[in-house]
Amino acid sequence: MSLGLLLLTFGLAAAPGRDNCQECHAALDGRLAAPAQAYARDVHRRAGFTCASCHGGDAQETDPGLAMSKQRGFLGAIARTAIPKLCARCHSDAALMHKYRPQQRVDQLAQYLTSVHGQRLMKGDTAVATCSDCHGAHGISEVKDPQSPVHPLRLPQTCAGCHADAQHMRPYGLPTDQFEQYRQSVHWEALARRRDPSAPSCAACHGNHGATPPEVNSMAAVCGTCHALVEDLYRQSPHRAAFEAGGRGGCTVCHGHHRVLRASPEMLAGEKAICAQCHESGSKGAAVANEMAGLLAKLRDALARAQGILNRAARDGMEVSEATLRLQDGQEALVKARVAVHTVRLENVASLVHEGLSIADQSYRAGEQALRERDRRRLGLLVSLVTVSVAIAGLWMKLRAIESGGKQT
Ligand code: HEC
Ligand code: HEC
Ligand code: HEC
Ligand code: HEC
Ligand code: HEC
Ligand code: HEC
Ligand code: HEC
Ligand code: HEC
Ligand code: HEC
Repeated sequence: MSLGLLLLTFGLAAAPGRDNCQECHAALDGRLAAPAQAYARDVHRRAGFTCASCHGGDAQETDPGLAMSKQRGFLGAIARTAIPKLCARCHSDAALMHKYRPQQRVDQLAQYLTSVHGQRLMKGDTAVATCSDCHGAHGISEVKDPQSPVHPLRLPQTCAGCHADAQHMRPYGLPTDQFEQYRQSVHWEALARRRDPSAPSCAACHGNHGATPPEVNSMAAVCGTCHALVEDLYRQSPHRAAFEAGGRGGCTVCHGHHRVLRASPEMLAGEKAICAQCHESGSKGAAVANEMAGLLAKLRDALARAQGILNRAARDGMEVSEATLRLQDGQEALVKARVAVHTVRLENVASLVHEGLSIADQSYRAGEQALRERDRRRLGLLVSLVTVSVAIAGLWMKLRAIESGGKQT
C-alpha cells in the first residue's frame, strides 16, 4: 500500500465530525489553532476528510503523541515545494475524484507544471504561487463560491497579493501594474459592473493553473478565443505577418493587454490615433486610417439623423415601427464596418458603410414621409374642426332666430 493510499484510508476512516486533530487544535493558540478554525468551513471537511488526510497521523487518537506519530504517517508541517504533489495525490486521481465529482478535471498538477509558477517552484523558488496561495490551505471553498479567492471577481486581488507587491516581485524585474491596469479595462467593467460572466478575469487569459488556456498556443492568440470574428479579419491583414514576426503579439499592439479600453474611431484618426504611431502622414497606412475614420463617422451621423426623425414621428403617434426595425440593419452594418477595420482594407469598410448609408437614407425618407402624413392629417383635422364649428354656430343662430320669432307671437 502506498503512503498516499494509507493516508487516505486513515483520513476517510474517521466519520465526518470525528476529528481529534481539529478538536485539540481548535483549543490551542495562534498558528496552531488558526488552521482548525478555518477548516470548519472547508470543502474537504464537508466531504468527510480530516486533518490527517493531508498531514498524515491518526485522527482517531486523542493522545497527541499517538495522533502525531511518525509511525502513523504524520508529516507535520508541509514544505511549500511539497504542496502541489500533496494536493495532486487526490486531485490527479480520477477514480477517487470522480466518486465525489464526476465532472471534475484532474489535470491541475499537470497544467501547473507547465506554468512559470510550477516550473520555478520545481527549481526550489518558493516565492511563486502554489496551490494554497490561490485556494488557501484550510478554508478551501468550492471554486464557484463567490467568497472563493479564485472566483473571477476576487481573483485579480488574489494574484495582486504577489504581483502588485513591488518588494515580492523585485528579484524578477517584472512590472507590478497588472492589477491596477486591468481594473481600468473594459473587461473588468463588463465583469464587475455589468456582471457579464463572459468577460475575462486574469485566469481567462492566463489559464486557471498559470499556464495559458489549453486551446491557446501563445498569449498573442488569447484574445481570439472570445473575439473570434475580429481575429479572422485581423488574420487577413498585412499586420499579422508584420506584428507576429516581431514577436510583439497581435491584438495587444493596438489595444494593450491589461488596460484594454472601449474601442473608438479616435484610435484611427486625430490626436490619440494609434495608426499614426507607425504610419506617418502622407503614407498609404495613414491615408487608409483617415478615410476609414471619415466613412465610419459619416455612417454614424446618418444613422443618428434617421433615428432622430423616426423618434419624432413615433412621438407624434405615427406608425414607423417597420422603418425603425430596418434601421437596426443599418446599425448592424456599422458594427460590421468597425470590425472590418481590422483587415485595414479600405474597400471592406467602404462597402459596409455604403450598405449602412443606403439603409439610413431609406429610413430617413420613411421618417420624412411619416411627418408629411402627420401634417396632412393635422390639416384634415383642422378642416373638419372648422366645418363642425361653423355648423354648430349656424344651428345656434337658427335656434336664436326661432326663439325670438316665438316671443313675437
Ligand atoms: C491533544 C492535542 C493534539 C492532537 C490530538 C493533535 N495535535 Fe497537532 N499539535 C498539538 C500541539 C500542542 C502542537 C505543537 C507542539 C508540537 O509540535 O508538538 C501540534 C503541532 C501540529 C502541527 C505543526 C507541526 C509544525 O512543526 O509546525 C501540525 C501540522 C499538527 N499538529 C497536525 C495535527 C494532526 C494532523 C493531528 C491529527 C492526526 C493532530 N495534529 C493532532 C496538539 C495536538
Ligand atoms: C487539504 C489539505 C490540508 C488539510 C485537510 C489540513 N491542512 Fe494543515 N496545512 C496544509 C498545507 C498545504 C499547509 C502549509 C501551507 C500553509 O502554511 O499555508 C498546512 C499547514 C498547517 C500548519 C502549520 C501552520 C503554520 O503557520 O506553520 C498547521 C498547524 C496545520 N496545517 C494544522 C492543520 C490542522 C489542525 C488541520 C485540521 C483541522 C489541517 N491542518 C488540515 C494542508 C492541509
Ligand atoms: C495561480 C492561481 C492558482 C494556482 C497556483 C492553483 N489554482 Fe486551482 N484554480 C485556480 C482558478 C482560477 C480556478 C478556476 C476557478 C473558476 O472556475 O472560476 C481553479 C480551479 C481549481 C479546481 C476546480 C476544478 C478545476 O480544475 O477547475 C481545483 C480542484 C483546483 N483548482 C486545484 C488546484 C491544485 C491541486 C493546485 C496545485 C497543483 C492548484 N489548483 C493551483 C487558480 C489556481
Ligand atoms: C485526501 C484527498 C484530497 C486532498 C489531499 C486534497 N483534496 Fe481538494 N478535494 C478533494 C475532494 C474529494 C474534493 C471534492 C469534495 C466535494 O465535492 O465534496 C475536493 C475539492 C477541492 C476543491 C473544490 C473544487 C470545486 O470544484 O469547487 C478545491 C479548490 C480543492 N479541493 C483544492 C485542494 C488543494 C489546494 C489541496 C492541497 C492543499 C487539496 N485540495 C487537497 C480531495 C482532496
Ligand atoms: C505567491 C505569489 C504569487 C501569486 C499569488 C501569483 N503569482 Fe504569478 N508569479 C509569481 C512569481 C514570484 C513569478 C515569477 C516571475 C518570473 O519568474 O518571471 C510569477 C510569474 C507569473 C507569470 C509569468 C510572468 C513572466 O512573464 O515571467 C504570470 C503570467 C503570472 N505569474 C500570472 C499570475 C496570475 C494570473 C496569478 C493569479 C491567478 C498569479 N500569477 C498569482 C508570484 C505569484
Ligand atoms: C485580456 C487578457 C488578459 C487579462 C484579463 C490579464 N492578462 Fe496578464 N497578460 C496578458 C497578455 C497578452 C500578456 C503579455 C504576454 C506577453 O507579452 O508575452 C500578459 C502579461 C502578464 C504578466 C507578465 C508581466 C507583464 O505585465 O507583462 C503578468 C504577471 C500578468 N499578465 C498577470 C496578470 C494578472 C495578475 C491579471 C489579472 C489582474 C492579468 N494578467 C489579466 C493578457 C491578459
Ligand atoms: C474570455 C473572453 C475574452 C477574452 C479572452 C478577451 N475579451 Fe475582450 N471582451 C470580452 C467581453 C465580454 C467584452 C465586453 C463587450 C461589451 O460589453 O461591449 C470585451 C470587450 C473588448 C473590447 C471593447 C469592445 C468595444 O465595444 O469597444 C476590446 C477592444 C477588447 N475586448 C479587446 C480584447 C483584447 C485585445 C483581448 C486580448 C488581449 C481580449 N479582448 C480578450 C471578452 C473577452
Ligand atoms: C492595427 C491596430 C489594431 C489591431 C492589431 C487590432 N485592433 Fe481591434 N480595433 C482597432 C481599431 C482602430 C478599432 C476601432 C474601430 C472603431 O471603433 O471605429 C478596433 C475595434 C475593436 C473592437 C470593437 C469592435 C466593435 O464591435 O465595436 C474589438 C472587440 C477589437 N478591436 C478586438 C481586437 C482583437 C481581438 C484583435 C486581435 C485579433 C484586434 N482588435 C486587433 C485597431 C486594432
Ligand atoms: C506597430 C506599428 C503599426 C501600427 C500601430 C499600425 N500599423 Fe499598419 N502596418 C504596419 C506594418 C509594419 C505594416 C506592413 C508594411 C508592409 O508590409 O510593407 C503595415 C501595413 C498597413 C497597411 C498596408 C499598407 C500598404 O502599403 O500596403 C495599411 C493600410 C495599414 N497598415 C493601416 C493601418 C491602420 C489603419 C492602423 C491603425 C488602425 C495601423 N495600420 C496601425 C505597422 C503598424
